[in-house]
Amino acid sequence: MRYLLLSATFLATLTACDWNSKEDYTPKAEYETFLKSQEEAAKTQAEAVASGAAPAVTEEPGKKTFETFCVACHGIDGKASGPAAAALKPSPRNLTDKAWQAKVDDARIAKVIKEGGASVGLSSNMAPWGGAIKDEEIANVVKYVRHFGK
Ligand code: HEC
Repeated sequence: MRYLLLSATFLATLTACDWNSKEDYTPKAEYETFLKSQEEAAKTQAEAVASGAAPAVTEEPGKKTFETFCVACHGIDGKASGPAAAALKPSPRNLTDKAWQAKVDDARIAKVIKEGGASVGLSSNMAPWGGAIKDEEIANVVKYVRHFGK
């Protein structure tokens, strides 16, 4: 059910985008394929966690989840170096940016992850992950986002 809601959110986001605007150009088909693969990864992961096949929390809190859901855009190094990053405008946040790290609190980071960029007036290309990642694990991902600022 959660997954259906998540899909509905993705579709609503895609429909709302103006793909033809020159300033905000994104190769649509490529991006849709990418989003689909993200949805499938989210579903597989959610099912694995639900069935107990995969632990929701790993040795280094948030790392596994970040590497599953976030690196395509934010990069393994947090510097927006992921393969999907180049196609996105605005580009994904460079999580190692110390000035940005100092400006935001943990609650804001958790909200962006759970409810998506649009919930705080940022790009909807930063999708809401609340349907795929549990609140406890979001707290771990926030910690992992923080480690990029150290
Ligand atoms: C499809 C690409 C994509 C994926 C996948 C993605 N993000 Fe983002 N993210 C973005 C973009 C684009 C922005 C910048 C939005 C803006 O500046 O308008 C962003 C912004 C952010 C921000 C900065 C918010 C702020 O207050 O400035 C954080 C934190 C973040 N993402 C964390 C994550 C985490 C954690 C994940 C994985 C659960 C994730 N993102 C997955 C594209 C992505």
